[in-house]
Amino acid sequence: MFDTIVRMFKEKSDFLSGEEISRALGITRAAVWKKIKALREKGYVIDGSTAKGYRLIKTPEFSVEEVKTLVKGNFGKEIIFHKSIDSTNALAMELAEKGVPNGTVIIADRQLKGKGRLGRTWFSPPEGNIYMSVIVRPEMEPKDATLLTIMSAISCARAIESSTGFKAKIKWPNDLMASGKKLGGILTEMKSDQDRIIFAVIGIGINVNARLDAFPPDVRSVAASLIEELGGQRLSRTLIVAEILKELEYWFKVLMKGGRMQLINEWKKLSSTLGMKVKVVSGKDTFSGIAEDIDGEGMLILRLPSGGRKKISAGDVTMLK
Ligand code: BTN
Repeated sequence: MFDTIVRMFKEKSDFLSGEEISRALGITRAAVWKKIKALREKGYVIDGSTAKGYRLIKTPEFSVEEVKTLVKGNFGKEIIFHKSIDSTNALAMELAEKGVPNGTVIIADRQLKGKGRLGRTWFSPPEGNIYMSVIVRPEMEPKDATLLTIMSAISCARAIESSTGFKAKIKWPNDLMASGKKLGGILTEMKSDQDRIIFAVIGIGINVNARLDAFPPDVRSVAASLIEELGGQRLSRTLIVAEILKELEYWFKVLMKGGRMQLINEWKKLSSTLGMKVKVVSGKDTFSGIAEDIDGEGMLILRLPSGGRKKISAGDVTMLK
């Protein structure tokens, strides 16, 4: 209902009368007034005039209603927002188990127990960063799950560029990079049986508006944030989140239609890894070599100093000089 009012405001830049809103929503004038009050509490600046009605002056930096007005497909039709949560991925896994539809999104302003890859924590301060999880129900074998992460990294990099102009790079498989430091990461978790994924949760963390001094020193030395990269203007999470959801929906369809090579080719265009001398820590093993390619399952192909090639399915990549 809130998103319908926001949509109406956007369609008509002039005043909207209380009568128009009440007719469109099928609610009383008193109920309209309550909705306007609630929107103001969410950070919308709305001008009110007894004679003319209401006019939208300013939208908040992040608004679920507005994301919903910007996305047209299934991804983002359902958005569950929390000001503070342990982990959006943890809640998404619970909700997916209960059967919520493909494309349902959980977003939070902060996380108290944000999860990173390999059992790490994801530092998630309430400074206007993106912490979101998207539930997907792909028809895919578990062995191809890396493609979901790759699809998500592509979607985020493209969304960041279209909404802010910043060209983020991707470090295999899932790190979003800026100036050689980590701008964001993706944690894909899933439930599967032997030969199919039942559901997957794509967890996305992007440092958008947090200043680096908000991070603890050990994180600060390896982290980047969009506001710092782009010269200090606060950015709209609404636009970035909406673009991510549009891109995810597009690339998910590509993947489901068998377009994995289209995905891999797009990833290669955005990669900061290919052609570089790298060190890869994969479980207990460490390999060094040239990151030569990624294959159709999203595995990294490393050219070893011996001339041989090694396929790596998961690991941490460090660029070597
Ligand atoms: C990584 O280690 O690179 C992955 C980080 C993923 C962080 C995101 S933030 C939203 C979602 N919820 C979580 O608990 N983690 C992911």
